[in-house]
Amino acid sequence: MNINMNPNSELEQSIVSVPDIVQVPEKFISQARQFQEVMMMYTCAIREVKTKLEVLNDELSVRNKRNPIELIKSRVKKPMSIIEKLQRRGLEPTLESMVENLNDVAGIRVICTYVDDIYDVAKMLTRQDDVRVISIKDYIQNPKENGYRSYHMIIEIPVFFSDRKQAMRVEVQIRTIAMDFWASLDHQLKYKKDIGEAEEISNELKHCADVIAATDKKMLEIRKKIEAQGGAVHK
Ligand code: GTP
Ligand code: MG
Repeated sequence: MNINMNPNSELEQSIVSVPDIVQVPEKFISQARQFQEVMMMYTCAIREVKTKLEVLNDELSVRNKRNPIELIKSRVKKPMSIIEKLQRRGLEPTLESMVENLNDVAGIRVICTYVDDIYDVAKMLTRQDDVRVISIKDYIQNPKENGYRSYHMIIEIPVFFSDRKQAMRVEVQIRTIAMDFWASLDHQLKYKKDIGEAEEISNELKHCADVIAATDKKMLEIRKKIEAQGGAVHK
């Protein structure tokens, strides 16, 4: 779902454009509205977390003369992926079940420059008093078997609407530019069915993941050496 769209006008338009002879059941309209409202709430939660991250990045870039965050990407999970995940886990494909069981309906990916930036950003975000940490998976300290590295957090933040405050869950994945580069190619591999030489490709990818981790580590060491000599690293 495009996070910039105006949910109401889109729904109104899609219903208005249905020819008169088609009877749209009330129940369908009310369910569609409910779905749209919940997705709007996830979109707002993303916006809140994104703003927090942008504020941190601005503050740190003034203080340290460099940006710890290169890029922030976000997405709201698509309806098809939501249904697929609920079914795969044997859960009811309903709105209530989604809100209760899925922690990644709202997702934010933060691309940092260096590995220490990842931990700094995670620490600064989670110590804010309106951010509740639900879970953390550190795939940098404990990489996955295939070589995947990233720092994952599920957080809950309050979002203020006209008549209530709602706690919303957001999945935040933090990784370096190099880890992101690797994950994109690995993602392609996952979605290619019946791929030839699959094992060889997996081994090559695993090797790349190790090279990337070593390079990330070395780049951080070099940056620290330069900083120790009093030179700020300008962009
Ligand atoms: P999902 O059911 O896939 O959401 O996994 P999970 O609930 O066990 O959570 P986990 O933190 O392990 O993974 C969440 C997300 O991280 C995935 O949806 C992917 O976006 C990303 N991810 C995890 N493992 C891999 C991997 O091996 N390769 C790539 N490219 N991405 C991964
Ligand atoms: Mg996921």
